[in-house]
Amino acid sequence: MASQKITRVGVIGAGQMGAGIAEVCARASVDVLVYESTRELAAAGRARIMRSLDRGVSSGKLTEREREQAAWRLRFTSDIGDFADRQLVVEAVVEDEAVKTAIFAELDKVVTDPTAVLASNTSSIPIMKLGMATQNAARVVGMHFFNPVPVLPLVELVTTLMTSPEVSERAESFARDVLGKQVVRSADRSGFVVNALLVPYLLSAVRMVESGFATVEDIDKAMVLGCAHPMGPLRLTDLVGLDTVKAIADKMYEEFKEPLYSPPPLLLRMVEAGRIGKKAGHGFYQYEAK
Ligand code: 3HC
Repeated sequence: MASQKITRVGVIGAGQMGAGIAEVCARASVDVLVYESTRELAAAGRARIMRSLDRGVSSGKLTEREREQAAWRLRFTSDIGDFADRQLVVEAVVEDEAVKTAIFAELDKVVTDPTAVLASNTSSIPIMKLGMATQNAARVVGMHFFNPVPVLPLVELVTTLMTSPEVSERAESFARDVLGKQVVRSADRSGFVVNALLVPYLLSAVRMVESGFATVEDIDKAMVLGCAHPMGPLRLTDLVGLDTVKAIADKMYEEFKEPLYSPPPLLLRMVEAGRIGKKAGHGFYQYEAK
């Protein structure tokens, strides 16, 4: 069956990444169905997207009408069975291999079009593991977006030994031509390009705090003013989420056994304490509740 232009997308998960992915798809005139497990999580996801769309309007990037149209293109469900007609599904749930493989196994049964693309936004789980949870690993790819998704223009495209060229081309052209993102390709190695470089840097900053080398504020100030980074590594760790940074680091350590990927005890203690960053109102910095 010849594959058609992608106009129906599914997003699994409406956390900070899933909500961002759903938003950019809706803004690109695509029909978007978002899965969340409960009504409460779906309502929180919709509110997150609406806040971001409002921000687009107040910064002049979006008209009121475009915001309304984007909101109108977004529907929510708690039944993955509703994804049967999707041409592309992007999974963006918690960075947990067991949870993600279970979702891929289910999606594989539900999504009927054999040319549909099943993509994961994982940062660190090898895509092959997700592909092998399905009966058709040829249609499984990684599409890794960056936070905040409406702002950052990159998508890492990750193909496996099993991904078909047609599927990777379809995913790339959707990201590039429909969403207007820039695409880089990465081999299927935990962390892909960006996190393989970024995560050791973030962990090094945490180790600096841990050893009393410099304060949180001074480490961030040093990298913002000395290297023109938009934010320092500890504020960025808060933005990504300490739990997510830990999960990515654990996976990268599992893959490469490199000590530089091993999460330092301070990060572990902060995650155990629930100080997981901006989304929790408390990480290396304090944040106002939304
Ligand atoms: N949604 C929509 N728009 C947003 C937004 C959001 N969540 N956050 C910021 N923006 C927009 C603002 O409206 C503003 O637009 P304008 O210039 O037209 O007014 C613009 O982005 C800049 O925002 P602000 O003025 O509020 O703040 P800053 O200039 O400080 O920028 C930032 C904020 C965009 C977050 C910037 O600091 C930044 O790019 N930081 C680095 C983020 C980064 O490195 N992300 C990658 C993390 S790694 C990752 O995601 C991968 C994963 O696997 C871990």
